[in-house]
Amino acid sequence: MDKIELNIENALSALKPGAFDSLAPVAQDAFKTLVSGSGAGNDFLGWVKLPSETSAELLADIKATAEELRTKCQVVVAIGIGGSYLGAKAVIEALSNSFAAYRHEGCEVLFAGQNIGEDYLYELSDYLKDRQFGIVVISKSGTTTEPAIAFRLLKEQLEKQVGRDEAARRIVAITDESKGALRSLATEEGYKTYVIPDNVGGRFSVLTPVGLLPIAVAGFDIEALVAGAARMERATLEGKDNTSLTYAQTRNALYRAGKKIEILVNYNPKLHYFGEWWKQLYGESEGKDHKGIYPASVDFSTDLHSMGQWIQEGERTIFETVISVIEQKHNVVIPSDNANLDGLNYIAGKRVDEVNKMAELGTRIAHVDGGVPNMRITIPCLREDYLGELIYFFEAACGISGYILDVNPFNQPGVEAYKRNMFALLEKPGYEAETAAIKAKL
Ligand code: PA5
Repeated sequence: MDKIELNIENALSALKPGAFDSLAPVAQDAFKTLVSGSGAGNDFLGWVKLPSETSAELLADIKATAEELRTKCQVVVAIGIGGSYLGAKAVIEALSNSFAAYRHEGCEVLFAGQNIGEDYLYELSDYLKDRQFGIVVISKSGTTTEPAIAFRLLKEQLEKQVGRDEAARRIVAITDESKGALRSLATEEGYKTYVIPDNVGGRFSVLTPVGLLPIAVAGFDIEALVAGAARMERATLEGKDNTSLTYAQTRNALYRAGKKIEILVNYNPKLHYFGEWWKQLYGESEGKDHKGIYPASVDFSTDLHSMGQWIQEGERTIFETVISVIEQKHNVVIPSDNANLDGLNYIAGKRVDEVNKMAELGTRIAHVDGGVPNMRITIPCLREDYLGELIYFFEAACGISGYILDVNPFNQPGVEAYKRNMFALLEKPGYEAETAAIKAKL
């Protein structure tokens, strides 16, 4: 096996005869709408051919910038939220040593601007005060409050620690080509910048400099990541092996059969943030017009001891999509013990992963028996190229699925509601009417 594969057998057997096949024409139309660029949100389709169109020059430039930061800095803080954060975090976590945070080897990539936690920012600043650090600040709009606060604080700290000129050499801004406060600030301060293409929305931007620079700073192979995505792009667009279409069609058939919640399951803790990235991709793309599959995620077997009960016997409105990693990087064998006081000798000599795989199989059988349809995606191992494939697979499926659902998968109008209230409550200039209205409600 040298590519990711999708198995939908269990899901099909949970559907009424014909439920999957009858959706095929709608799914085909949705795919055509995506590829021809004739659907809603078609000014945000830059991601569709992004992997194959990413130039070797851009990748080399990103690698050179990453190398410069790695040489100068013990820590690089990637500042961003939502699509300007989750893709990089997901790939870095999937490829990193689980204890990288405690080993302090090479250049550490930390994140900020993904929350407004005062203690988080205080503790980050405290951690950085005796360290050589740099900043990659990422905001497509250039005006998002959370990253702007983090950047204002960390920029000031960096300038105090190394002086304004050196700080400017250690700050990279990734933003719109011409618009937004971050673009003006970067121009004013003379920062190195990268552009987020106009036609690529935040949650589809992991394969632009948004994801590629932090991933390269963390020491991973961005060329392989993009090459893997390009492989999946070809398979999808040529239509010979369109697993994205199959996945989109299956999840919509399940949704129409009353399965309103999709749980993305992993059996490898390194994929926790992949689940977070996936939730953002599908949640922001599909949850509109009072429609959309609710995307949830769990880490098994950990969460079998918390959410397992609900999944097995709770309301039957869920289905699972399991990501299964075939090969692990390391080999750990369970030892034999003469006393056998823990009763574990029956698995002595087996690899830990063999036990994990049996947990996966046993859970799948139990959940299918319990009325939870199940899809399975296998990935040969956690490597840059396969992660690139997986990213493109989910992105393409998301676009197709959104069109099957008949929503615009590429906007996020609902995200503005909390911002309006927050600005009104903080009495931001220009929000006077909203401030008066919200105060009347309090
Ligand atoms: O997918 C999206 O568009 C959003 O999640 C954005 O990525 C997020 O809101 C951050 O926006 P920006 O990059 O403009 O700061």
